[in-house]
Amino acid sequence: MSEQDPVTLMKQYVGKAAADRVTSGMIVGLGTGSTTAYAIQYIGERLKTGDLKDIKGIPTSFQSTVLAKKYGIPLTTLDEVDRIDIAIDGADEVDPQKNLIKGGGAAHTREKIVDSLAEVFIVVVDSSKLVDQLGSTFLLPVEVMPLAMTPVMKALEKLGGKPTLRMGVKKAGPVVTDQGNLVIDVKFDAIDNPADLEKEINNIPGVLENGLFVGVADIILVGEVVNQEAKVREIS
Ligand code: 5RP
Repeated sequence: MSEQDPVTLMKQYVGKAAADRVTSGMIVGLGTGSTTAYAIQYIGERLKTGDLKDIKGIPTSFQSTVLAKKYGIPLTTLDEVDRIDIAIDGADEVDPQKNLIKGGGAAHTREKIVDSLAEVFIVVVDSSKLVDQLGSTFLLPVEVMPLAMTPVMKALEKLGGKPTLRMGVKKAGPVVTDQGNLVIDVKFDAIDNPADLEKEINNIPGVLENGLFVGVADIILVGEVVNQEAKVREIS
């Protein structure tokens, strides 16, 4: 195996495997995060060599917009298309039913819109993201309008969560989403019923969207290292 850090290698492998599923003429949802960034890069490389033609991307964040432009992927919007053929996106946790927690990059609201509309939604993760139960390793992100921050936190506590406001790194104050909102990360001891919790949280006034993606993913591509060799395993 190459000298490269194994996690980076796994991300590159799944990113490439997902980019290989894109065919000419497709409208492609472009997710957010460090793993999807490799998929965007490889899609751009395939366009450059002529292996891929006439595709259009729908970005899910400022990050994916910038990367798509950097790698020469033409962009479009939901107003201009009648379908999304495929979406490629990362995740923070994946359970055995292919339910997800997303939002580590604070982009889950736009990601859920784009990923849910796709005919095929491919999730790209390294093996550390697979869990038996959602909420085991990652806090659940909730995007909230700034004026509703305090009442939403109280409502999340009533649902059994321990909420904290996500703070910026190399920026004083809270993380502000691409939509100008805040993110509350919530610790739940166990998420027994992700489908019910997803609806309950979204029903709190002031909440835009939470990071539970239930029944949205079609295919999970998992990058793993087996016998010191990086491989991609498909869960479908
Ligand atoms: C952004 C996301 C990302 O897809 C998720 O955080 C995974 O990112 P990475 O591939 O960097 O681990 O949901 O909101």
